[in-house]
Amino acid sequence: MILSPSMLSADFSVLGQQIAEIEKAGATWLHIDVMDGIFVPNISFGACVYKSIRAKSNLFFDVHLMITDPERYIEDFVSAGADMITFHVEATKNPELCIEKIHQLGKKAGISLNPGTSVDAVIPYLDKVDMVLVMSVNPGYGGQKYIEDVNPKISKLRELCGEDFLIEVDGGINKSNIKSVVDLGANVIVAGSAVFNDNITASVHGLLEEV
Ligand code: DX5
Ligand code: ZN
Repeated sequence: MILSPSMLSADFSVLGQQIAEIEKAGATWLHIDVMDGIFVPNISFGACVYKSIRAKSNLFFDVHLMITDPERYIEDFVSAGADMITFHVEATKNPELCIEKIHQLGKKAGISLNPGTSVDAVIPYLDKVDMVLVMSVNPGYGGQKYIEDVNPKISKLRELCGEDFLIEVDGGINKSNIKSVVDLGANVIVAGSAVFNDNITASVHGLLEEV
């Protein structure tokens, strides 16, 4: 399992230090939540915020775009240092174009679906993307409760995609439910508040030890 701590819950006044700490504690990915105030009600941060960290970090930059018409910004997010860009199937009229643009720039492409969106919406793209991101909360905020109704979607995607495909689950995951989400078929786990709201090193170790 890959743990992708979500920077959204970090203390931005000491962002560089906290990101160095998750890396030292054993995390290999960093989940970067970009929100535009249109696709989701909240605004988070843009490419310039993680660009400054890129040179100081070896983490895999897992950029989750919660923005409308993501095709407009793919170049910017790649030049800022993204290793993977995941966009929402609900946010664009042309998922294929988004995937193509990301791949042309030599990066991995992920497609995400909201809790209320059926797996059928992403099926046409499964053989083109490198990862599916199943939202287990309605996107916009950290610290929400995991929505159990998404569980059948995780199992169905694992069945459809085979054992090595990347299936990431995002929202409301902590020490007490991480194992059950992995058992359903997730192999990339996002955790925001469960990493940053307490001692970071101990939290990363605790989550990694559960699975
Ligand atoms: C929600 C974001 C998540 C969020 C997860 O819109 O996509 O990545 O930061 O935070 P927790 O783990 O606190 O639910
Ligand atoms: Zn996210």
